Amino acid sequence: MTDDSPVSAYVSAEEVQAEATVRPRRLAEFIAQDRVREQLQLLIAGATRRGDPPDHILLAGPPGLGKTTLANIVAAELGSALRVTSGPAIERSGDLAAMLTSLGPGDVLFIDEIHRIARPAEELLYSAMEDFRVDVVVGKGPGATAIPLDVEPFTLVGATTRSGLLTSPMRDRFGFVAHLDFYTADQLDALLVRSARILGVELTADGAAEIAGRSRGTPRIANRLLRRVRDFAEVRADGVVTLDVARAALTVYDVDRRGLDRLDRAVLTALVSSFGGGPVGLSTLAVAVGEQPDTVEEVCEPFLVRAGLLARTPRGRVATPAAWEHLGRTPPPGTFGANPAGEGPGSQPGLFADT
Ligand SMILES: Nc1ncnc2c1ncn2[C@@H]1O[C@H](COP(=O)(O)OP(=O)(O)OP(=O)(O)O)[C@@H](O)[C@H]1O
Ligand SMILES: [Mg+2]
Repeated sequence: MTDDSPVSAYVSAEEVQAEATVRPRRLAEFIAQDRVREQLQLLIAGATRRGDPPDHILLAGPPGLGKTTLANIVAAELGSALRVTSGPAIERSGDLAAMLTSLGPGDVLFIDEIHRIARPAEELLYSAMEDFRVDVVVGKGPGATAIPLDVEPFTLVGATTRSGLLTSPMRDRFGFVAHLDFYTADQLDALLVRSARILGVELTADGAAEIAGRSRGTPRIANRLLRRVRDFAEVRADGVVTLDVARAALTVYDVDRRGLDRLDRAVLTALVSSFGGGPVGLSTLAVAVGEQPDTVEEVCEPFLVRAGLLARTPRGRVATPAAWEHLGRTPPPGTFGANPAGEGPGSQPGLFADT
């Protein structure tokens, strides 16, 4: 799965507008993530009742699962203004200080990719989050003085795809941390029905289920596949997204029934056909598919592992029985992860060394 793949979890510049069209505006429209939704609802209701801004909120999870959407929703539910920036966009801590001191009371400041914030800006943020105060340093060298400035009570909403990279003082300053999970096919089904309604697309129940099953647990991908399938339905059919139309369209876009793209399938096919299912080293596997090892490791493997199709073992990469079956092959006896009951490898997680 490369960035231009139809199943990339990352947003492309051209689809930002399309995403905004279907983005839920209120908590009640946000599909699934029930635990997070309930917790946020309580946090917002409690704060509203007391008339203070709620605790700072950290939203953590893989790309495309709804962090930016929830940041917008928090501000909307509070009836507060939203100011948006991102870790990499804050070049100098002075820029952040200016932003913080210009916040109105109760405003929501959204910092996307907060794990990428530069160190001096991060330190400035600590005192803003904790004491609603920033020290702005004026001058250089021994004559430099710190001028304390007040910040209005505000709520910081931070989003990160890499919560492990956050420093612990940063993490500790969030009163509320929400981890977003991948969505089930049923949840994506509901999401597609909602998006289709907004876009005015006629979508049958089996058509929705087909797209949901190929969307890798990710709302962004589900919405993108819906747009591609709609194009196909309008150009090659009567505009209605049925099961057959969804299947035909996604075949054209090279997205298979489990959401694998061309490169994902090439990796599995090489593993099974050229190396008997493995174990094989990453660099050998990468050469076999004509890609860089980094691409195979960081772009393809996370999903293949999550889907239970590939395992990383101390001796190399191994295709699971599910991978053989996915490619329409019978796993040979003794295939890695096969057990006597014929269950998939998911039932024996202990077998998987994550190297
Ligand atoms: N729970 C949900 N219900 C409905 N739509 C959703 C939900 N979660 C995400 N979406 C839709 O999926 C798309 C991507 O969501 P969003 O931009 O919030 O992801 P993100 O977590 O911020 O991703 P990134 O890490 O790339 O910034 C948006 O169009 C959004 O409307
Ligand atoms: Mg986002």
